[in-house]
Amino acid sequence: APFVVVIDGPSGSGKSSVSRAVADRLGLAYLDTGAMYRALTWWCLDQGVDLEDTDAVTAAAESMPLRMGTDPTDPRVDVGGTDVTAAIRETGISSVVSAVARHLPTRAVLIAAQRECIERCSRPGIVAEGRDLTTVVAPDADVRLLITASEDARLARRARELHGGDGEDAIAATRDQVVRRDRDDSAVASFLEPTDGVRLLDTSELDFETTIAAVLELVER
Ligand code: CDP
Repeated sequence: APFVVVIDGPSGSGKSSVSRAVADRLGLAYLDTGAMYRALTWWCLDQGVDLEDTDAVTAAAESMPLRMGTDPTDPRVDVGGTDVTAAIRETGISSVVSAVARHLPTRAVLIAAQRECIERCSRPGIVAEGRDLTTVVAPDADVRLLITASEDARLARRARELHGGDGEDAIAATRDQVVRRDRDDSAVASFLEPTDGVRLLDTSELDFETTIAAVLELVER
């Protein structure tokens, strides 16, 4: 069986960049489960599927020709021959992805795909990240980690990503987006509670390299 590391965390916690760096340094595959919810949102919009319609969104999840790249240095996402890696990061997707993630039968389809990807990964192991990996998708993973950060730290990171800086205006614009998605994600956010055996890492005061070193230490322990 592959060596499985799962990392959960809220938006702006740094879990994606940290997970990719850790996977790369350990020679493991990488799976971004948030990108799967984003890809499904893209597919639903492309196919004219009503995002509020649980049955229709679930059927779309079942028929979606999704290919998740698992190379941590270049994780590309392909839907039916279209490279959607960049498109799924657009505001038009970020602002509605929570609607898709709310449908439990839809989640069941994506969770099954995630488990299969983890089981059949192309390397000796995998680092998979998202919001419900430690609790729902892979509660029996070898290493389970919850990465947190204060709201201020998360906003500053997202502002630099989305708006190229963490000045007042950038923070205000980011706050609107992040706070709204966190609220829309409240059903999913309930997964973000530390449960038994899940290690907690608060990165509010840690820079990128220090965070990676801390995660590597937890994994190697
Ligand atoms: O990058 P960020 O953390 O902001 O978001 P993401 O990881 O790309 O996830 C996008 C959205 O997918 C989240 O806001 C959730 O609605 C949903 N999601 C989920 O429901 N379960 C997961 N395991 C991962 C993401």
